[in-house]
Amino acid sequence: MNNFFEQLNRDLKQSNGALPRLIVDDQALEQNLQYVAKKLKYGSHLQPRIVVKSLACLALLKTISLKLSTQRFMVFHMPQLLPILEHFSDVDVLFGKPMPVSTVQHFYAMNQNCRQADIQWLIDSKARLLQYLEVAKQFSLTLKINIEIDVGLHRGGVRSDFALIEILRLIEQNPEHLVFAGLMGYDAHVTKLPSVIKKIDVAYRESQDIYQNYKNIIQQQFPHLWRTDLCFNGGGSPTFYLHVEQSVCNDLSFGSMLLKPSDFDSDGLSVLQAALWISTPVLKVLPFTQLPGLEVLDKLPHSSKALFVYGGYWMAHYVYPRGIHPHALYGRSTNQEMVNVPKNTEIAVDDFVFLRPTQSEAIIPQFHKLYCYKNRDFEAWETFRE
Ligand SMILES: Cc1ncc(COP(=O)(O)O)c(C=O)c1O
Repeated sequence: MNNFFEQLNRDLKQSNGALPRLIVDDQALEQNLQYVAKKLKYGSHLQPRIVVKSLACLALLKTISLKLSTQRFMVFHMPQLLPILEHFSDVDVLFGKPMPVSTVQHFYAMNQNCRQADIQWLIDSKARLLQYLEVAKQFSLTLKINIEIDVGLHRGGVRSDFALIEILRLIEQNPEHLVFAGLMGYDAHVTKLPSVIKKIDVAYRESQDIYQNYKNIIQQQFPHLWRTDLCFNGGGSPTFYLHVEQSVCNDLSFGSMLLKPSDFDSDGLSVLQAALWISTPVLKVLPFTQLPGLEVLDKLPHSSKALFVYGGYWMAHYVYPRGIHPHALYGRSTNQEMVNVPKNTEIAVDDFVFLRPTQSEAIIPQFHKLYCYKNRDFEAWETFRE
């Protein structure tokens, strides 16, 4: 990895404008995509669905969509819906969280041309479905409805057979305005539980059993709503590797793992490579850290130099040069952060330091551009800022 950052440092210094940059390493992304494509071939019962919030950049989404031959997207943020509808010709959008009804209303009021768009609106309760039904009536629409089920994460959604049945009845009674599209059960808890509480395989099996039970209810009690093209969405990056082995779902969403920010370092995703970095220029190099008010310490021996970098305090860990870290007492800064590096580190003003984001969904929208680093060159891609 050291060679990678040394080369990147040289290439950044050759390129225009030394500002903090968000960088995607094309080679690592490519390898991650190859791994995912291979796994999906094996788990061929699963259609991939790209999580837009975690990869919020049109050019990146286009690259991934092409590589994985899918235009299924999971959208979490209303302003990100239109660009997806506009730039992909054969989209199938599923919302990953329920949208407030007024947002849905506003969307149809402002975008009459999207009446036919293939959107599965996610509802978590009968009350929300009743709200959406009113919107469908108001605009003379037939809304596709996907139902959020709680498969153990306990983030809301349907939690009982009765709740599902009530919702399905309401859909059945309003065929002019509502069409049942499927279920969404997110299982992020599966790999996050401490193993003393529950082992991964047990948690996964339990979540899958809950999912299967709801599928059975639909098939047995609502045969008119059952279709072979219903969307049974599940997964997420943390459980991708489990679903491709065996899953009751037919639609698998994932995003972050393709860039693998550090929150996604796990045994199940160990084959994947980190592909997202922040680079930022060094503004000042001081021989050691001086703490205001504690100048008496200046005379002590010092093992670190102090750097001041452009920006800072991102949701990210400093990774290069080796041994770089923020100072425990000096305080963090988003404007001009101080970091320490070992005294013998060769680094000068206008060199770059590197960080690895902990998440992609929080970091990408903080940058105007995502720079695709390929063959030692940079291509600037616009991100979704809103
Ligand atoms: C409903 C749902 N599905 C899937 C995902 C997975 O996204 P990622 O793979 O980027 O973690 C999320 C993440 O929040 C989610 O909320």
